Amino acid sequence: MQAITITRPGTRDVLAVTEHPDPTPGPGEVRIAVAAAGLTFADVSARHGLYPDAPPTPCTVGYEVSGTVDAVGDGVTTLPVGTRVMALTRFGGHSSSVCVPTSSALAIPDGLSFEDAAAIPVNYLTAHHMLFQVGTVHPGSSVLVHMAAGGVGTSVFQLLSTVPDVVSFGTASAPKHDYLRGLGCTHPIDYRSQDYVDAVRAVLGERGVDLVLDPLGGKDWRRSWDLLAPAGRMVAFGMANAVGGTKRSMFRVISQLIRTPRFTPIGAMNLNKSLQGVNMGHLWDEIGLLRPQLERILELWEEGVVKPHVHAAVPFSNAGEAHRMLEEGENRGKVVLIPDGQS
Ligand SMILES: NC(=O)c1ccc[n+]([C@@H]2O[C@H](COP(=O)([O-])OP(=O)(O)OC[C@H]3O[C@@H](n4cnc5c(N)ncnc54)[C@H](OP(=O)(O)O)[C@@H]3O)[C@@H](O)[C@H]2O)c1
Repeated sequence: MQAITITRPGTRDVLAVTEHPDPTPGPGEVRIAVAAAGLTFADVSARHGLYPDAPPTPCTVGYEVSGTVDAVGDGVTTLPVGTRVMALTRFGGHSSSVCVPTSSALAIPDGLSFEDAAAIPVNYLTAHHMLFQVGTVHPGSSVLVHMAAGGVGTSVFQLLSTVPDVVSFGTASAPKHDYLRGLGCTHPIDYRSQDYVDAVRAVLGERGVDLVLDPLGGKDWRRSWDLLAPAGRMVAFGMANAVGGTKRSMFRVISQLIRTPRFTPIGAMNLNKSLQGVNMGHLWDEIGLLRPQLERILELWEEGVVKPHVHAAVPFSNAGEAHRMLEEGENRGKVVLIPDGQS
């Protein structure tokens, strides 16, 4: 089998396609011939050496795949050979063959392409979990979504369409605003030329916003927190400010950590604000929590609400180009990786 290996932390040329023996499924596992694997911001951070959860290099990362079951371990009856599936992998997904427990794999509908299926787990589970499990979005409420035109942001806006009368703000560079409006974002904000705090207050006034989804970190967590309305919720789910740019920079990481606000329960109590943290990587084994959400997402796909947007499908041997797209913020929606030799 092929795997995209991060040979050591560094620039895109540390990525290499390596050959390995096919894995053998253990009891209760299926082996998947991977058709497509999702690329996430975390994978790019791992290559930079800035993702603490990643295995030590050399390693193969990747949280999600789609493909066809081509072998099963003892005791597997639910997903026979030939079943088209999507699956959650905690690393190792950027391979042409992976083994996962049956609980981490879901059969997918015939009409769902492999590329679209590989674009679903991380983005839509993150979005669904933030909106409906921890952040709770109510009809008529207001939501600020940072990094809005990326994979998670796209999923957030699609899911928000199931909630009536939401006033939504999304930060993204100006060329992506038509895309955001098409997703139902009522107020795109060009964060490069406009202060998003001013932009939100111009619409909502001093009361502020009910829910902020913030993967930026550092000083933005403070600004998002200050922007919350009474009973507002902020979901912290990333530290993109620490990674931005195409080179690893410890200075950038440390400066963002220094600017991270310190919250206290007493402060939150008196302000009537809530901070919620989401790190799906740390929930990836909580199948009882995630599986019903993934099933709901597939229902919403059947209903035409969930529409994965694949920005590019890139062969394994060109993985550096896929990383570049995320690093340079070129993508609208998802970038997926395709094993070499498949088209
Ligand atoms: N905690 C979790 O479980 C979890 C799960 C998934 C993702 N995340 C985090 O969520 C964030 C978004 O992920 P994604 O997959 O949606 O990203 P993505 O598809 O790569 O899109 C990110 C977009 O955000 C914009 N952006 C704004 N500020 C940025 C910055 N400082 N650095 C880089 N890009 C910036 C860029 O577009 P423009 O600048 O052109 O608008 C970029 O295209 C990432 O930080 C990721 O680590 C967390």
